[in-house]
Amino acid sequence: MKDLKTAGQATDLPEFPMQRACPYEPPEGYAALREQSPLTVVTLFDGRPAWVVTSHALARELFTDERLSSDWTNPRFPVTSPARGALQKHNVMVGMDRPEHGHYRKMVIPSFTVKRMNRLRPRLQAIVDERLDAMLAAGPPADFVESVAVPVPSIAICELLGVPYADHEYFESETRKLVIRTSGEIAASALANLRAYLDKLIAVKEAEPGEGLVDDLIADQLHQGRIDRETLVKLCTIMLTAGHETTANVISLGLLALLRHPEQFDALRDDPDLVPGAVEEMLRYLSIAEVVSRVATADFEVHGRRIRAGDAVFFTNSAVNRDPDAFPDPDVFDVRRAPRLHTGFGYGVHQCVGQNLARAELDIVFRAVATRLPRGLRLAVPFEEVKAKGPAGPQGIIDLPLTW
Ligand code: HEM
Repeated sequence: MKDLKTAGQATDLPEFPMQRACPYEPPEGYAALREQSPLTVVTLFDGRPAWVVTSHALARELFTDERLSSDWTNPRFPVTSPARGALQKHNVMVGMDRPEHGHYRKMVIPSFTVKRMNRLRPRLQAIVDERLDAMLAAGPPADFVESVAVPVPSIAICELLGVPYADHEYFESETRKLVIRTSGEIAASALANLRAYLDKLIAVKEAEPGEGLVDDLIADQLHQGRIDRETLVKLCTIMLTAGHETTANVISLGLLALLRHPEQFDALRDDPDLVPGAVEEMLRYLSIAEVVSRVATADFEVHGRRIRAGDAVFFTNSAVNRDPDAFPDPDVFDVRRAPRLHTGFGYGVHQCVGQNLARAELDIVFRAVATRLPRGLRLAVPFEEVKAKGPAGPQGIIDLPLTW
């Protein structure tokens, strides 16, 4: 039975992660990997070989396998760029395993229940309306990323956490430096800046409590000795950064996909009740969280391969969600498909904490897109000029110039 070394010797190893040629399509090489085997070997920037999971069935099996660890402090935890390595020690919840992971997850999960999100919907609707009104009133051309896609989730997470939106330019630009990871130094300094910002905010809130998840965490966890201050700062940093950058990418790429598939856009305009299913289709089709990383902590066999403790294992969501065995005609963007069981939010114990918030935001945004934007809406630049973000971090576009 082949292990990482012997399986990798058979062929020239493809480099990983690969770059998307089209901002909403998976890198072309991922389908070829899946056709080879659901579990193949690739090579990382530093020459390290790694396993890549590309089939839906195997991904669902391994996402829940506790022998694959999320522990970022494990020295064998794989990194996909030198910049990511600088960030590994800054983990809480997302970079932890059971039982520590559950301890922190329990602190935040009550703030993201469907019930809480339903109560938040009128406020989210007002935020979306306000941003669209301003964009339409200013007239074309408009950058949809700057006008709607970034501000909507950013305002929403600020209100949920109790972070002042007045500071948005600062934390949005630091977050972008953090996730785009142009260099290890830039990413590490952005993270340090974000943490210093939240540390200061926590001090202000300790003196003068407000309303929001950060205030609740101070009162219920920090002041009760259930979390130390440094860990609280890290937790708040993760919630703030994950809370806006990800959803923003689905909003902008989702609209780009609709503009490139006008018959799908028309279907939503004709029947806005298709939007909830269309949002699931966007999460599947766009798979903006393209790569999820794990490290094996035990030797085991799976799919005729021997995984050894210390091996790097990556889930490629964009390949998993285009697996023809799970989704018929997987490369077709079909707003009526309403796919179930995609892994756009991951799967297993780390499945996205913010998914109910993201779904509520996306539902409201795309209902407004379907009902309020003029029929003549189109790209203000040739499609080839829409700038994509790089292969590290969440997939998305830098801007979306529109005219109508
Ligand atoms: C459409 C937007 C979003 C997408 C596609 C997305 C995707 C993901 C994925 C794939 C994971 C799993 C990572 C893993 O298994 O290692 C994850 C986890 C997480 N997400 Fe999201 N996310 C989105 C929105 C949000 C929002 C709005 C928040 C708000 C706070 C958020 C907070 C988190 C956190 C804290 C985790 C870590 C959970 C854990 O480790 O238990 N995400 N997300």
